[in-house]
Amino acid sequence: MRDSFNRKISYLRISVTDRCNLRCRYCMPAEGLKLFSHDDILSFEQIVEFTRVAVGLGITKIKLTGGEPLVRHGITDLVSMLAEIDGIDDLGMTTNGVLLEEYARQLAEAGLGRVNVSLDTTNPGRFSMLTRGGDVQRVFDGIAAGIDAGLTPIKLNCVAGSFTSQSDIDSVKEFADKNRLRFRVIRLMDFENGKFSVVDGGTGGDCKQCSRLRLTSNGLVRPCLFSDIAFDVNELGNEKAIVKAIEYKPQTGGPCSHKWMHCIGG
Ligand code: 5AD
Ligand code: SF4
Repeated sequence: MRDSFNRKISYLRISVTDRCNLRCRYCMPAEGLKLFSHDDILSFEQIVEFTRVAVGLGITKIKLTGGEPLVRHGITDLVSMLAEIDGIDDLGMTTNGVLLEEYARQLAEAGLGRVNVSLDTTNPGRFSMLTRGGDVQRVFDGIAAGIDAGLTPIKLNCVAGSFTSQSDIDSVKEFADKNRLRFRVIRLMDFENGKFSVVDGGTGGDCKQCSRLRLTSNGLVRPCLFSDIAFDVNELGNEKAIVKAIEYKPQTGGPCSHKWMHCIGG
């Protein structure tokens, strides 16, 4: 489908959970947070049915996100169910990599094509500081397992901004080069002030070329990461929520009331 600015909408990002096993400083508040209640989270059947309708309306590319998608129980079953839908050319996942060593093979067997791994530094002390306690070795092991399982090409996403230093970014770039992985810097986004920039090597942040729609884990279809516009699938049904979200997709993003990414999906 095309939106009212004639952009073709073909890319759906599905946030399967707002939970995460890390606490990145820019993504989650220190004081903890209110998470969606389990009753409000869409079931796998609901996500699959939604996706079927979305594919019928022109979606061809899907990315599973979170929070951290691998903390959702049975995630590989969801991947298998989605992989069976005709019309998806590209089924990927964005993960922090912590659980990837355990899941890589099952995910590949279930039909996942590739993973993007978020990694902001390779320095163990800095990683632990940035993620409030994460162990970077698990991410390295996860990436190695991802390569082994053929979840490639793996792209490393590195967020540059007030928390990361140039040497953090350089360390990830070097790691990417050494392991022949793709590497991408994402500028830290500021939701409240609507500040974001184009992500290099993709269409992220480039409003004129934006082809995205998002489904949050509690069933809101959001046409823009930097907007409060949302349509609830529980109220409207899948098709109407999707059509409305496309119809109301704003020309550009701006300031919005959410502060954190974990509940929408990066
Ligand atoms: N700005 C940019 N990227 C962010 N992420 C989380 N919060 C922000 C933000 N405010 C990133 C994570 C990960 C992806 C899911 O979103 O680092 O790469
Ligand atoms: Fe978790 Fe990703 Fe947010 Fe870090 S950025 S807390 S890994 S969802």
